[in-house]
Amino acid sequence: MLLLVVMFAVGVAAEEPENPYTSGIDVRMGQRQFQSKCTSCHGVDATGGEEADGPDLTTGRFQHASTDAGLYEVIRDGIEGTSMRGLRRAGDQEIWQLVTYLRTLSRYVDVASLPGSVEAGRGTFERLDCGRCHMVGGRGGRLGPDLSRVGERRDPDELAEDLTEPSAEVAPRWWTVRVTSADGMVVEGLRMGEDTFNLRIMDGEERLRSFAKASLRAVEREQTSTMPAEALPEAEVDNLVAYLASLRGSDP
Ligand code: HEC
Ligand code: HEC
Repeated sequence: MLLLVVMFAVGVAAEEPENPYTSGIDVRMGQRQFQSKCTSCHGVDATGGEEADGPDLTTGRFQHASTDAGLYEVIRDGIEGTSMRGLRRAGDQEIWQLVTYLRTLSRYVDVASLPGSVEAGRGTFERLDCGRCHMVGGRGGRLGPDLSRVGERRDPDELAEDLTEPSAEVAPRWWTVRVTSADGMVVEGLRMGEDTFNLRIMDGEERLRSFAKASLRAVEREQTSTMPAEALPEAEVDNLVAYLASLRGSDP
């Protein structure tokens, strides 16, 4: 009998409080607070600060917490030894609303629920030699973004768009630059860096080249992607999307 009581007490102690504030209004309140208190370090879209060191909070996976109650504690108490300070003076409701908002940001998807096959997608990735431009797990080229954890960054719809309309949204990092030197030589490549005087580009053989702007006759920029838009059958796109979605650190 005594044993039973002890076990019961342990069971109760281990049970974590549930988030009582999970309605649509709570999401909006949480978002408003996030915009005023958290974006300086975690970025406006919570994907991580560019200058500050706040991590991406949208991967569906947290290093310091796995449950809502765990997140609550991180937000209330902060993380010792880091710039992440707790909101000690905030009320219960405010903190739970932040937890609720953070949960809506998760881009984590259950790969098994997608229509395509991860294995078939891996095969297509190899057959079409996507690795010529993309790194996965440390192997591949550098003419496109590293895809090792692309499943944490992009949701399935975004991945499908990346494949079918690569030029829809291209970050300046991947713009093509074409320079013409004073003697008429033309070099084309990815824009790697630029300041007032110099322009650095990487050509199709991954060679880095630097040019003094003053010595150039012309500089043209193209905001389209160098990624080939292949007309793939829908089933192949589905398979590639499943494979790409599966590329992430590890499941939550
Ligand atoms: C001054 C910068 C700063 C501000 C402001 C800030 N954070 Fe953080 N936050 C960090 C840093 C840095 C870390 C990572 C600490 C570590 O693990 O090294 C972090 C970590 C976290 C984590 C844990 C992430 C994980 O993977 O476990 C959560 C959740 C979080 N912050 C939420 C918030 C919320 C919500 C706010 C606004 C109320 C906020 N942060 C404001 C800097 C900040
Ligand atoms: C000639 C080089 C090249 C090849 C080959 C190539 N890509 Fe790309 N890819 C790029 C570049 C450059 C970008 C970044 C610009 C953009 O968004 O289109 C990109 C972007 C992407 C993105 C978006 C990544 C992100 O972080 O937003 C995905 C996903 C992707 N490629 C998948 C593939 C797959 C799958 C294949 C094979 C069918 C492939 N790529 C073949 C150059 C290439």
